[in-house]
Amino acid sequence: MAHSSIALIYGTDTNNTEEVGQKIANQWEELGEEVEIFNIKDIEPSLLEQYSTLILGIPTWDFGGIQSDWEEIGDILSELSLENTTIALYGLGDQFGYGDYFVDAIGWLYEKLLPTNATFIGQWPTEGYEFEASRACVHDKTHFIGLAIDEDQQFDLTDQRIEQWVIQLYAERAVEAA
Ligand SMILES: Cc1cc2nc3c(=O)[nH]c(=O)nc-3n(C[C@H](O)[C@H](O)[C@H](O)COP(=O)(O)O)c2cc1C
Repeated sequence: MAHSSIALIYGTDTNNTEEVGQKIANQWEELGEEVEIFNIKDIEPSLLEQYSTLILGIPTWDFGGIQSDWEEIGDILSELSLENTTIALYGLGDQFGYGDYFVDAIGWLYEKLLPTNATFIGQWPTEGYEFEASRACVHDKTHFIGLAIDEDQQFDLTDQRIEQWVIQLYAERAVEAA
């Protein structure tokens, strides 16, 4: 049975993705909806099937590498029953340090979840970022498949990006549900 509330599930190595997740959850809660937060390393992947809306967070490590707790369950993700689930992705990266691999892991997570036929919301413009290449880009590089946050180079933009993205998610989810 799907919960009506939202789960935000993140993986992290140095806690940035957790902190950003907490801010995203706070922003949702200001809109009047409860968000349950989990670290992916502490749960069974099948928990993802219990929610109607998922917000999934992942940082990129080591030149396009996948955060290890997410990477471990990559094959299981593709098998989950998520066809009635709405998913929004966010990721952390460093656009100047790793501009050829910026937030690549968001793209990896998307590719792993595509076979589930879940509905994806929350694409985010690439305008305002400087990078060469990213596996997370769609539509000829005009958008990321989810929200890209850069705590290393653009931390001053994080709060504003989160606020705008959550408002966007709220509106897109309402359209999906209609
Ligand atoms: C050794 C190292 C490798 C990294 N590799 C990438 C990368 O390939 N692409 C990217 O966008 N960011 C990369 N980053 C930046 C991290 O994703 C960023 O610092 C992020 O905020 C870490 O999130 P976490 O604290 O949740 O683990 C790297 C950082 C370090 C220190």
